[in-house]
Amino acid sequence: MKESLSLEIIQQNVKTCKKCELCTTRKNAVPGIGNESADIVFVGEAPGKNEDLYGEPFIGTAGKRLDDALENAGLTRNNVYITNIVKCRPPNNRVPNDTEKSMCNNYLEDELKIINPKIICLLGNTTFSSILGGKEISKNHGKIVSKNNRTYFITFHPAATIYNQKLGEVFKNDIKKLVNELQKIKHMN
Ligand code: URA
Ligand code: SF4
Repeated sequence: MKESLSLEIIQQNVKTCKKCELCTTRKNAVPGIGNESADIVFVGEAPGKNEDLYGEPFIGTAGKRLDDALENAGLTRNNVYITNIVKCRPPNNRVPNDTEKSMCNNYLEDELKIINPKIICLLGNTTFSSILGGKEISKNHGKIVSKNNRTYFITFHPAATIYNQKLGEVFKNDIKKLVNELQKIKHMN
């Protein structure tokens, strides 16, 4: 009998995955983490150094920025689900290439199918362009986009706010706006 898909199974499959070259340089693959019935899924680019060391997404400096923005908007990691388009760290944190992105895509698709969030928050240019073919996050941040029965919210990557305090404020405002948009969607249903 075919086992039904669960986040746990995806996690196991990611941890042992060897579908692309990144498996040869990673220390740990980094599956998504969080609430199976989350209304919001955050999608980053790829694990960095700390994530690779510990096998958990967004636990370094960028993760701290994300946590701060979540808290500021009245959310915690327990309310949401956090993942990446590519689950293994690219060497020297380079941008993942098209092969890596397409090999890894089924994991994100499966995560989204199981969780079926009300909003998917895309963090930064790589994610925005990979998933929606968009560019110029500075012009498009804070926007809602609907595509193929899914609702996306576009914002900066939290890493972009580390040395830019102004952008940090913009990012925090975006995350608040995201929570407002979620409330609107919930009231419509
Ligand atoms: N940056 C990302 O895009 N994802 C992580 O998990 C950590 C840093
Ligand atoms: Fe597998 Fe994705 Fe890691 Fe490549 S990046 S080895 S496809 S989990």
